[in-house]
Amino acid sequence: SFLGIDLGTSGLRALLVDGAGQPVGSTERHYPVSHPRSGWSEQNPADWIAALETAVSELRDRHPEFSALRGIGVAGHMHGATLLDDGDRVIRPCILWNDTRSHQQAARLDAIPDFRDLSGNIVFPGFTAPKLEWVRDHEPENHARIARVLLPAAYLNLYLTGDHVTDMSDASGTSWLDTGTRDWSDALLAAGHMRRDQMPRLVEGSAPAGQLRTDLARAWGLSRPVLVAGGAGDNAAAACGIGAMTEGQGFVSLGTSGVLLAARDGYHPAPDTALHTFCHAVPDTWYQMGVMLSATDSLNWLSRITGTRPADLTAPLGDAVQAPGPVRFLPYLSGERTPHNDAVIRGAFTGLGSDTTRDDMVRAVLEGVALGLRDSHQALRATGARLDRIMAIGGGARSRYWLQVIATTLDATLTLPADGEFGAALGAARLGMVAAGSGSIADVMTAPGVIDEIAPDAALRDAFDAAHQAFRAAYPAVRGIQ
Ligand code: XUL
Repeated sequence: SFLGIDLGTSGLRALLVDGAGQPVGSTERHYPVSHPRSGWSEQNPADWIAALETAVSELRDRHPEFSALRGIGVAGHMHGATLLDDGDRVIRPCILWNDTRSHQQAARLDAIPDFRDLSGNIVFPGFTAPKLEWVRDHEPENHARIARVLLPAAYLNLYLTGDHVTDMSDASGTSWLDTGTRDWSDALLAAGHMRRDQMPRLVEGSAPAGQLRTDLARAWGLSRPVLVAGGAGDNAAAACGIGAMTEGQGFVSLGTSGVLLAARDGYHPAPDTALHTFCHAVPDTWYQMGVMLSATDSLNWLSRITGTRPADLTAPLGDAVQAPGPVRFLPYLSGERTPHNDAVIRGAFTGLGSDTTRDDMVRAVLEGVALGLRDSHQALRATGARLDRIMAIGGGARSRYWLQVIATTLDATLTLPADGEFGAALGAARLGMVAAGSGSIADVMTAPGVIDEIAPDAALRDAFDAAHQAFRAAYPAVRGIQ
């Protein structure tokens, strides 16, 4: 059997699959995020280990298959800075991906000539390098003690194998990696006041990172050697979970944030449009994604202020998509990454009239998220990404109306996966399978069955094109008054 671990922001999910990659059982453990100050977001790495240990003991107790474990893969929330001293002790709480304290340091690094060319990305405040610059500026005594910086998934790799090792996909979110050549960049490290010896060893996500420590294997009741894969950042792992591995394949994920991801056979960075261009978790492959910060969060906000559950807001819309009305919603409740890279912008409704109904506003919110995804779609297409198959995943994909709006706005057919496992934990387990030699990437990283296809409504294309133009024009206008 194989174990996939998804170290998420709110909790850790562990999934056991059998030798053929079929799910056997899963469990989840939650841990807190602390916000010591506004915009700060931290976690205690000891909580991750405690969550892993209790999850493993539960899977062991419930599933006899666990005793035949052969491989493990870890996926993690990206960009977090786990600082270790020369005894591998954690120096301070991990600063997370959604922590914005280092925005000034990010802007300074981002302005250095060649920085974007080497890393392939804007230096977003959430990325790792600016966090280390912040620690250098504000906690010099901590900075002086740093022997290693590990991403969250790599910290679990250290616990599992005793070695400092990270995979290319997660390393891409540090701003220290030359994403095109898949190696740490001495120039980027120097600009961020870091050294190569402070970095973990780099491996491909599907390659072995090491063996499970013998003392841990004994404690877990395992007698045969277990391989630990390089693992992945959570979005690359999710792509492995739905089989988005090669050019033309991708997904749209409607979670708190919205992600439109395309797997790429080559390296085609486009930082100007705030796309993320990262190594995939398998060799010679990259992926690109547009990230919107408020997708289901936009609907949840409307739900909160109207005191009506999201499903009850969308149900009255029925199934037949209408052309966009005069009301527009800019979904920038927490700022936006793609395409604006604007942490300051906030959302807006425009075109409200005395006849505007709640349904009009619900539609405008769903349309606003879809129009934002169209910005990401256009940015991806401009790099040559094909996106022939877009699978819709995440909680928001339960709204049929929303999926039809997105299909029409992007002018692309969306596929809906059959119920079952296809998330980051499955992707991580699959990386464990490949690392342990239990199948090739092509054999293991397959797409789930499709239960439905949602096609664009050609009759509404012009109306959605016009709405997108109005949406684009609204951003600079709203920006100008904020
Ligand atoms: C990706 C990103 C998030 C985190 C947390 O750039 O910031 O997806 O990985 O899930």
